[in-house]
Amino acid sequence: MLPAGWHRRFEHRASEERPLAPLTTFRIGGPAQIFVEPQDVDELAEAMANLKKGGIPWRILGGGSNLLVADKGVRGAVVSLARLSAVRKRDRMLEVDAGARLIEVVRIAASAGLEGFENLAGIPGRVGGAVFGNAGSRYGAIGDLVVALDLMEPDGTLLRVVPPAGFFRYRGSEVGDRIVVRALLAGSEADPKLLRAKVRDLVRERRASQPGWVGNAGCIFKNPPGHAAGRLIDAAGCKGLRVGGVFVSQRHANFVENDGKGTSSDVLRLVDRVRDRVRKAHGVELEMEVRRWE
Ligand code: EPU
Repeated sequence: MLPAGWHRRFEHRASEERPLAPLTTFRIGGPAQIFVEPQDVDELAEAMANLKKGGIPWRILGGGSNLLVADKGVRGAVVSLARLSAVRKRDRMLEVDAGARLIEVVRIAASAGLEGFENLAGIPGRVGGAVFGNAGSRYGAIGDLVVALDLMEPDGTLLRVVPPAGFFRYRGSEVGDRIVVRALLAGSEADPKLLRAKVRDLVRERRASQPGWVGNAGCIFKNPPGHAAGRLIDAAGCKGLRVGGVFVSQRHANFVENDGKGTSSDVLRLVDRVRDRVRKAHGVELEMEVRRWE
């Protein structure tokens, strides 16, 4: 049930039992009990305050590109930041809202002659999730560009944070249970033509070595210190290993692909099998990179 008064206040913004699979790149998972899509930061603050008042648990949905939703779906509220997607140029910085798509930010930065953003070329998802998980490539991560963050406390209060050293780590951050609302990202000056060419090269490189954006959730495991998970999984003979509708990608062994019939429990069973094989073959423990919603 939606909290009292929500139908009126969040007309067209809130719904019940909303299927989440189409909102994830994996295309897997059940519905959200309550789904809210605020149109601006004020609505987000109001929604969060309402959820707090009602004691309703919540989760934030960004691009759904690094996410595995349980087959039975999730209880409580899923708050989508997709509508908060503005990108503004400020001197040598971009002020980007959490729901802006990373590809869009990379494109705008290249055209504006801002260097550093091209390291994120080819990464799916939206800015909020990218900041939360410090998304990146081997060339750099989004945390390298962050000058300041506007974070919202779970009660709807906004605060500006200048991330101290250590705030970002490999595929993680200290954002915690706060919501990334906006990020101020800085680059250095460079020739837009060169930057656009770099972006094209990186996208091409990624396309050649990884499956596309749909039907997977990016790298399924983190790279263990000193190792590449893809190499370990490949060498353990896991490419093509299948459970139900999901299988280890032939193109890149650290990707699990969904053939369209895959379920969350298929993924988890496959993850266990891969982990076992890698442990036996190499004595290394793999940790999932993809977040799970249960
Ligand atoms: N490899 C294999 N077999 C495979 C795949 C890879 O032997 O099937 C070997 C490669 O030959 C290479 C090594 O493993 O020697 C590393 O592979 P790759 O260069 O593809 O990079 P990665 O470490 O697997 C990381 C990020 C990717 C990012 C790429 C490119 C992680 C877990 N992965 O992949 O990020 O796109 O670098 O910059 O940090 C993600 O985080 O979701 C992700 C896809």
